[in-house]
Amino acid sequence: MKEVKRNILLNPGPATTTDTVKNAMVVPDICPRELEFGELTLSVRNDLIKAAYGEKNHTAVMLTSSGTGGVEACLTSVVPHDKKVLILNNGAYGERMQKICEAYGIGHIKYIATWGKPLDLPSVEHVLNLHKDEISHLAFIHHETTVGILNPLSELSSLAQKYNVETIVDAMSSFAGMDINVERDNIHYLVSSSNKCIQGMAGISFVIANKQSLLKTKEIKPRNFYFNLLENHLYLEKNKQFLFTPPVQTLYALRQAITEYFAEGPEKRWARYASMYEIMKKKVKELGFSFLVEEQHHAKLLTAIMDPKSPNYSFNEMHDYLFERGFTIYPGKVGDVNTFRLSNIGAIYPEDIENFLNVFEEYLRIKKII
Ligand SMILES: Cc1ncc(COP(=O)(O)O)c(C=O)c1O
Repeated sequence: MKEVKRNILLNPGPATTTDTVKNAMVVPDICPRELEFGELTLSVRNDLIKAAYGEKNHTAVMLTSSGTGGVEACLTSVVPHDKKVLILNNGAYGERMQKICEAYGIGHIKYIATWGKPLDLPSVEHVLNLHKDEISHLAFIHHETTVGILNPLSELSSLAQKYNVETIVDAMSSFAGMDINVERDNIHYLVSSSNKCIQGMAGISFVIANKQSLLKTKEIKPRNFYFNLLENHLYLEKNKQFLFTPPVQTLYALRQAITEYFAEGPEKRWARYASMYEIMKKKVKELGFSFLVEEQHHAKLLTAIMDPKSPNYSFNEMHDYLFERGFTIYPGKVGDVNTFRLSNIGAIYPEDIENFLNVFEEYLRIKKII
Protein backbone atom coordinates (compact mmCIF):
# COMPACT_ATOMS: atom_id res chain seq x y z
CA MET A 1 0.00 0.00 0.00
CA LYS A 2 1.42 3.40 -0.95
CA GLU A 3 2.18 5.65 2.04
CA VAL A 4 0.45 9.00 1.80
CA LYS A 5 1.10 11.96 4.05
CA ARG A 6 -1.66 12.23 6.63
CA ASN A 7 -3.24 15.65 6.95
CA ILE A 8 -5.73 16.46 9.69
CA LEU A 9 -8.55 18.33 8.00
CA LEU A 10 -10.55 20.41 10.45
CA ASN A 11 -12.40 22.10 7.59
CA PRO A 12 -15.98 20.88 7.16
CA GLY A 13 -15.18 18.40 4.39
CA PRO A 14 -13.83 17.02 2.24
CA ALA A 15 -12.74 15.25 5.39
CA THR A 16 -9.63 13.25 6.20
CA THR A 17 -9.86 9.73 4.79
CA THR A 18 -8.17 6.47 5.78
CA ASP A 19 -5.33 5.04 3.71
CA THR A 20 -7.55 2.10 2.87
CA VAL A 21 -10.16 4.44 1.35
CA LYS A 22 -7.44 6.24 -0.62
CA ASN A 23 -5.99 2.98 -1.88
CA ALA A 24 -9.40 1.58 -2.81
CA MET A 25 -9.27 3.91 -5.81
CA VAL A 26 -6.29 2.12 -7.32
CA VAL A 27 -8.11 -0.58 -9.27
CA PRO A 28 -7.87 -2.08 -12.74
CA ASP A 29 -9.54 0.09 -15.38
CA ILE A 30 -13.09 -1.03 -15.88
CA CYS A 31 -15.97 -0.03 -18.12
CA PRO A 32 -18.78 1.07 -15.81
CA ARG A 33 -21.27 -0.75 -18.04
CA GLU A 34 -19.78 -4.11 -16.95
CA LEU A 35 -21.89 -6.27 -14.66
CA GLU A 36 -19.12 -6.30 -12.04
CA PHE A 37 -19.30 -2.54 -11.74
CA GLY A 38 -23.11 -2.71 -11.72
CA GLU A 39 -22.95 -4.96 -8.69
CA LEU A 40 -20.63 -2.52 -6.94
CA THR A 41 -23.03 0.31 -7.80
CA LEU A 42 -26.03 -1.54 -6.38
CA SER A 43 -24.15 -2.53 -3.23
CA VAL A 44 -23.22 1.10 -2.55
CA ARG A 45 -26.75 2.26 -3.31
CA ASN A 46 -28.25 -0.33 -0.97
CA ASP A 47 -25.82 0.42 1.83
CA LEU A 48 -26.56 4.15 1.63
CA ILE A 49 -30.22 3.29 2.13
CA LYS A 50 -29.23 1.07 5.07
CA ALA A 51 -27.09 3.82 6.63
CA ALA A 52 -30.18 6.07 6.55
CA TYR A 53 -32.41 3.30 7.99
CA GLY A 54 -34.57 3.58 4.89
CA GLU A 55 -34.83 -0.07 3.78
CA LYS A 56 -38.60 -0.10 4.15
CA ASN A 57 -39.70 2.80 1.98
CA HIS A 58 -36.67 4.59 0.53
CA THR A 59 -34.22 4.30 -2.31
CA ALA A 60 -31.00 6.20 -3.01
CA VAL A 61 -30.16 8.10 -6.16
CA MET A 62 -26.46 8.75 -6.70
CA LEU A 63 -25.22 11.55 -8.90
CA THR A 64 -21.81 12.62 -10.10
CA SER A 65 -21.48 16.01 -8.45
CA SER A 66 -20.54 17.77 -5.29
CA GLY A 67 -23.20 18.03 -2.61
CA THR A 68 -24.82 21.11 -4.14
CA GLY A 69 -25.64 19.04 -7.22
CA GLY A 70 -27.69 16.69 -5.05
CA VAL A 71 -29.60 19.60 -3.53
CA GLU A 72 -30.15 21.09 -6.97
CA ALA A 73 -31.32 17.73 -8.37
CA CYS A 74 -33.78 17.34 -5.55
CA LEU A 75 -35.31 20.81 -5.69
CA THR A 76 -35.56 20.79 -9.50
CA SER A 77 -37.05 17.28 -9.63
CA VAL A 78 -39.66 17.12 -6.90
CA VAL A 79 -41.52 20.44 -6.52
CA PRO A 80 -44.66 20.47 -8.72
CA HIS A 81 -45.04 23.45 -11.06
CA ASP A 82 -48.20 24.64 -9.33
CA LYS A 83 -46.81 24.31 -5.79
CA LYS A 84 -44.15 25.92 -3.63
CA VAL A 85 -41.35 24.82 -1.39
CA LEU A 86 -40.90 26.62 1.91
CA ILE A 87 -37.16 27.06 2.42
CA LEU A 88 -35.74 27.82 5.85
CA ASN A 89 -32.60 29.91 5.67
CA ASN A 90 -30.49 30.30 8.78
CA GLY A 91 -27.16 29.99 7.04
CA ALA A 92 -25.39 29.96 3.68
CA TYR A 93 -26.75 26.55 2.66
CA GLY A 94 -30.38 27.48 3.27
CA GLU A 95 -29.70 30.61 1.25
CA ARG A 96 -28.20 28.43 -1.49
CA MET A 97 -31.42 26.41 -1.71
CA GLN A 98 -33.30 29.65 -2.21
CA LYS A 99 -30.85 30.69 -4.95
CA ILE A 100 -31.32 27.36 -6.75
CA CYS A 101 -35.08 27.93 -6.76
CA GLU A 102 -34.59 31.46 -8.07
CA ALA A 103 -32.30 30.23 -10.84
CA TYR A 104 -34.86 27.67 -12.04
CA GLY A 105 -37.99 29.69 -11.33
CA ILE A 106 -39.22 27.06 -8.85
CA GLY A 107 -42.10 28.32 -6.70
CA HIS A 108 -40.73 28.95 -3.24
CA ILE A 109 -41.29 30.88 -0.07
CA LYS A 110 -38.25 32.30 1.63
CA TYR A 111 -38.11 32.07 5.39
CA ILE A 112 -35.09 34.08 6.47
CA ALA A 113 -33.84 33.75 10.05
CA THR A 114 -30.81 35.16 11.81
CA TRP A 115 -27.72 33.13 11.00
CA GLY A 116 -26.27 31.55 14.10
CA LYS A 117 -29.60 31.60 15.95
CA PRO A 118 -32.00 28.68 16.40
CA LEU A 119 -35.12 28.63 14.22
CA ASP A 120 -38.28 29.94 15.83
CA LEU A 121 -40.66 27.01 15.36
CA PRO A 122 -43.94 28.87 16.07
CA SER A 123 -43.09 31.38 13.37
CA VAL A 124 -42.19 28.59 10.91
CA GLU A 125 -45.56 27.03 11.71
CA HIS A 126 -47.26 30.36 11.18
CA VAL A 127 -45.84 30.57 7.64
CA LEU A 128 -46.78 26.95 6.92
CA ASN A 129 -50.30 27.62 8.09
CA LEU A 130 -50.59 30.87 6.17
CA HIS A 131 -49.59 29.23 2.87
CA LYS A 132 -50.88 25.72 3.51
CA ASP A 133 -52.70 25.46 0.20
CA GLU A 134 -49.63 26.38 -1.83
CA ILE A 135 -46.81 24.57 -0.05
CA SER A 136 -45.92 21.01 -1.10
CA HIS A 137 -42.45 20.77 0.49
CA LEU A 138 -40.56 22.02 3.51
CA ALA A 139 -36.80 22.28 2.86
CA PHE A 140 -34.17 22.95 5.48
CA ILE A 141 -30.61 22.23 6.50
CA HIS A 142 -30.06 19.73 9.29
CA HIS A 143 -26.57 20.78 10.35
CA GLU A 144 -26.09 24.33 9.04
CA THR A 145 -22.35 24.10 8.48
CA THR A 146 -21.97 27.86 8.06
CA VAL A 147 -22.19 28.27 11.81
CA GLY A 148 -22.31 24.72 13.25
CA ILE A 149 -25.92 24.95 14.40
CA LEU A 150 -28.19 21.92 14.56
CA ASN A 151 -31.68 22.62 13.29
CA PRO A 152 -34.42 20.63 15.06
CA LEU A 153 -35.05 17.77 12.65
CA SER A 154 -37.79 15.95 14.49
CA GLU A 155 -39.76 19.10 15.39
CA LEU A 156 -39.56 20.38 11.81
CA SER A 157 -40.57 17.06 10.31
CA SER A 158 -43.50 16.82 12.75
CA LEU A 159 -44.61 20.25 11.55
CA ALA A 160 -44.32 19.05 7.95
CA GLN A 161 -46.44 16.03 8.82
CA LYS A 162 -49.05 18.21 10.52
CA TYR A 163 -49.40 20.34 7.38
CA ASN A 164 -49.15 17.36 5.05
CA VAL A 165 -46.05 18.55 3.21
CA GLU A 166 -43.01 16.50 2.23
CA THR A 167 -39.56 17.19 3.66
CA ILE A 168 -36.31 17.92 1.83
CA VAL A 169 -33.44 17.76 4.30
CA ASP A 170 -29.90 18.80 3.43
CA ALA A 171 -27.96 16.51 5.76
CA MET A 172 -24.71 17.09 3.91
CA SER A 173 -22.52 17.43 6.95
CA SER A 174 -24.54 15.35 9.42
CA PHE A 175 -25.48 12.13 7.59
CA ALA A 176 -23.37 9.29 9.08
CA GLY A 177 -22.07 11.68 11.72
CA MET A 178 -25.07 11.50 14.01
CA ASP A 179 -28.33 9.64 14.45
CA ILE A 180 -30.60 10.25 11.45
CA ASN A 181 -33.35 7.84 10.48
CA VAL A 182 -35.39 8.73 7.41
CA GLU A 183 -38.30 6.58 8.55
CA ARG A 184 -38.50 7.78 12.14
CA ASP A 185 -37.68 11.38 11.21
CA ASN A 186 -40.24 11.55 8.40
CA ILE A 187 -37.71 12.54 5.73
CA HIS A 188 -38.93 12.27 2.15
CA TYR A 189 -35.65 13.41 0.60
CA LEU A 190 -32.33 13.45 2.42
CA VAL A 191 -29.32 14.84 0.55
CA SER A 192 -25.69 14.19 1.40
CA SER A 193 -22.37 13.55 -0.28
CA SER A 194 -19.47 11.12 -0.34
CA ASN A 195 -16.81 13.29 1.24
CA LYS A 196 -18.10 14.26 4.67
CA CYS A 197 -19.09 12.02 7.60
CA ILE A 198 -19.21 8.88 5.47
CA GLN A 199 -15.47 9.53 4.94
CA GLY A 200 -15.17 8.85 1.20
CA MET A 201 -13.73 10.95 -1.62
CA ALA A 202 -15.43 13.97 -3.17
CA GLY A 203 -17.47 13.50 -6.33
CA ILE A 204 -20.73 11.72 -5.49
CA SER A 205 -23.87 13.26 -4.09
CA PHE A 206 -26.85 11.16 -3.16
CA VAL A 207 -30.50 11.66 -2.39
CA ILE A 208 -32.17 9.11 -0.12
CA ALA A 209 -35.70 9.35 -1.44
CA ASN A 210 -39.02 7.98 -0.33
CA LYS A 211 -39.92 5.66 -3.22
CA GLN A 212 -43.59 6.54 -3.35
CA SER A 213 -42.83 10.27 -3.37
CA LEU A 214 -40.14 9.84 -6.02
CA LEU A 215 -42.40 7.81 -8.32
CA LYS A 216 -45.07 10.51 -8.01
CA THR A 217 -42.64 13.02 -9.57
CA LYS A 218 -43.38 11.32 -12.91
CA GLU A 219 -46.30 13.76 -13.11
CA ILE A 220 -43.97 16.79 -13.10
CA LYS A 221 -42.88 18.13 -16.48
CA PRO A 222 -39.06 17.96 -16.21
CA ARG A 223 -37.10 21.14 -15.57
CA ASN A 224 -33.82 19.26 -15.72
CA PHE A 225 -32.11 16.50 -17.66
CA TYR A 226 -28.84 15.26 -16.17
CA PHE A 227 -30.11 15.84 -12.66
CA ASN A 228 -33.56 14.28 -13.00
CA LEU A 229 -33.91 12.13 -9.89
CA LEU A 230 -36.56 9.79 -11.21
CA GLU A 231 -34.80 9.14 -14.54
CA ASN A 232 -31.53 8.39 -12.74
CA HIS A 233 -33.36 6.04 -10.36
CA LEU A 234 -35.32 4.17 -13.04
CA TYR A 235 -32.26 3.69 -15.21
CA LEU A 236 -30.26 2.14 -12.37
CA GLU A 237 -33.17 -0.11 -11.41
CA LYS A 238 -33.55 -1.37 -14.96
CA ASN A 239 -29.93 -1.59 -16.10
CA LYS A 240 -27.83 -1.89 -12.93
CA GLN A 241 -25.86 1.05 -14.29
CA PHE A 242 -25.55 4.76 -13.70
CA LEU A 243 -27.51 6.73 -16.29
CA PHE A 244 -24.37 8.74 -17.12
CA THR A 245 -20.66 8.02 -16.71
CA PRO A 246 -20.01 7.64 -12.98
CA PRO A 247 -16.83 8.68 -11.17
CA VAL A 248 -15.54 5.11 -11.24
CA GLN A 249 -12.68 5.33 -8.76
CA THR A 250 -14.64 7.54 -6.35
CA LEU A 251 -17.29 4.84 -6.21
CA TYR A 252 -14.70 2.23 -5.21
CA ALA A 253 -13.56 4.59 -2.48
CA LEU A 254 -17.15 5.10 -1.32
CA ARG A 255 -17.65 1.32 -1.21
CA GLN A 256 -14.64 1.05 1.10
CA ALA A 257 -15.73 4.04 3.18
CA ILE A 258 -19.18 2.54 3.77
CA THR A 259 -17.62 -0.81 4.70
CA GLU A 260 -15.49 1.04 7.25
CA TYR A 261 -18.55 2.92 8.54
CA PHE A 262 -20.37 -0.30 9.36
CA ALA A 263 -17.19 -1.94 10.67
CA GLU A 264 -16.65 0.95 13.10
CA GLY A 265 -20.35 0.87 13.98
CA PRO A 266 -22.63 3.88 13.41
CA GLU A 267 -23.10 4.62 17.12
CA LYS A 268 -19.35 4.38 17.69
CA ARG A 269 -18.64 6.79 14.86
CA TRP A 270 -21.16 9.31 16.20
CA ALA A 271 -19.63 8.92 19.66
CA ARG A 272 -16.08 9.38 18.31
CA TYR A 273 -17.10 12.61 16.61
CA ALA A 274 -18.94 13.85 19.70
CA SER A 275 -15.96 13.04 21.95
CA MET A 276 -13.62 15.05 19.70
CA TYR A 277 -16.04 17.97 19.89
CA GLU A 278 -16.03 17.78 23.71
CA ILE A 279 -12.22 17.81 23.85
CA MET A 280 -12.05 20.75 21.47
CA LYS A 281 -14.81 22.74 23.16
CA LYS A 282 -13.27 22.37 26.62
CA LYS A 283 -9.81 23.50 25.57
CA VAL A 284 -10.98 26.34 23.35
CA LYS A 285 -13.01 27.71 26.25
CA GLU A 286 -10.04 27.37 28.60
CA LEU A 287 -8.01 29.41 26.13
CA GLY A 288 -10.57 32.19 26.48
CA PHE A 289 -12.52 31.89 23.21
CA SER A 290 -16.27 32.17 22.84
CA PHE A 291 -18.67 30.61 20.34
CA LEU A 292 -20.93 32.14 17.75
CA VAL A 293 -23.76 29.70 18.48
CA GLU A 294 -25.11 29.01 21.97
CA GLU A 295 -23.71 25.70 23.20
CA GLN A 296 -27.10 24.00 23.52
CA HIS A 297 -27.58 24.37 19.75
CA HIS A 298 -24.17 23.06 18.69
CA ALA A 299 -24.32 20.21 16.20
CA LYS A 300 -21.09 18.90 17.78
CA LEU A 301 -19.67 18.36 14.31
CA LEU A 302 -18.31 21.84 13.67
CA THR A 303 -17.80 24.83 15.93
CA ALA A 304 -17.68 28.47 14.87
CA ILE A 305 -15.33 30.33 17.20
CA MET A 306 -15.26 34.10 17.50
CA ASP A 307 -12.02 35.64 16.32
CA PRO A 308 -9.88 36.87 19.22
CA LYS A 309 -9.77 40.63 19.75
CA SER A 310 -5.95 40.78 19.91
CA PRO A 311 -4.28 43.08 17.32
CA ASN A 312 -1.74 40.28 16.80
CA TYR A 313 -4.39 37.96 15.38
CA SER A 314 -4.49 37.16 11.68
CA PHE A 315 -6.53 34.20 10.48
CA ASN A 316 -4.30 33.69 7.45
CA GLU A 317 -1.14 33.65 9.50
CA MET A 318 -2.66 31.22 12.01
CA HIS A 319 -3.93 29.05 9.16
CA ASP A 320 -0.47 28.90 7.56
CA TYR A 321 1.26 28.06 10.86
CA LEU A 322 -1.16 25.19 11.46
CA PHE A 323 -1.17 24.07 7.82
CA GLU A 324 2.62 23.71 7.80
CA ARG A 325 2.19 21.38 10.75
CA GLY A 326 -0.47 19.23 9.09
CA PHE A 327 -3.69 20.84 10.36
CA THR A 328 -6.19 22.62 8.10
CA ILE A 329 -8.64 25.09 9.63
CA TYR A 330 -11.35 27.14 7.97
CA PRO A 331 -12.40 30.77 8.14
CA GLY A 332 -16.01 31.89 8.60
CA LYS A 333 -17.77 35.22 8.37
CA VAL A 334 -21.37 35.75 9.39
CA GLY A 335 -22.56 39.26 8.55
CA ASP A 336 -19.81 41.41 9.99
CA VAL A 337 -18.85 38.86 12.66
CA ASN A 338 -15.56 37.10 11.99
CA THR A 339 -15.14 33.54 13.13
CA PHE A 340 -12.95 30.59 12.38
CA ARG A 341 -14.36 27.11 12.24
CA LEU A 342 -13.09 23.83 13.62
CA SER A 343 -14.72 20.71 12.36
CA ASN A 344 -14.42 17.28 13.96
CA ILE A 345 -15.49 14.87 11.23
CA GLY A 346 -13.54 12.39 9.12
CA ALA A 347 -10.93 9.73 9.83
CA ILE A 348 -9.45 11.64 12.75
CA TYR A 349 -9.29 10.61 16.39
CA PRO A 350 -9.17 12.22 19.84
CA GLU A 351 -5.35 12.14 19.85
CA ASP A 352 -5.32 14.15 16.60
CA ILE A 353 -7.47 16.79 18.25
CA GLU A 354 -5.17 16.83 21.31
CA ASN A 355 -2.16 17.28 19.02
CA PHE A 356 -3.93 20.04 17.14
CA LEU A 357 -4.86 21.85 20.34
CA ASN A 358 -1.24 21.76 21.52
CA VAL A 359 0.02 23.33 18.29
CA PHE A 360 -2.85 25.83 18.34
CA GLU A 361 -2.01 26.91 21.89
CA GLU A 362 1.69 27.10 21.02
CA TYR A 363 0.90 29.47 18.17
CA LEU A 364 -1.38 31.66 20.28
CA ARG A 365 1.34 31.99 22.94
CA ILE A 366 4.15 32.69 20.49
CA LYS A 367 2.06 35.47 18.94
CA LYS A 368 0.94 36.73 22.36
CA ILE A 369 -2.69 36.41 21.31
CA ILE A 370 -3.48 34.82 24.67
C1 LIG B 1 -25.02 21.76 4.77
C2 LIG B 1 -24.30 21.83 3.45
N1 LIG B 1 -25.02 21.87 2.34
C3 LIG B 1 -24.45 21.92 1.12
C4 LIG B 1 -23.08 21.96 1.00
C5 LIG B 1 -22.47 22.05 -0.36
O1 LIG B 1 -21.72 20.94 -0.68
P1 LIG B 1 -20.64 21.01 -1.84
O2 LIG B 1 -19.63 22.04 -1.43
O3 LIG B 1 -20.10 19.61 -1.83
O4 LIG B 1 -21.33 21.34 -3.10
C6 LIG B 1 -22.29 21.92 2.14
C7 LIG B 1 -20.82 21.99 2.03
O5 LIG B 1 -20.10 22.05 2.99
C8 LIG B 1 -22.91 21.85 3.39
O6 LIG B 1 -22.19 21.82 4.52
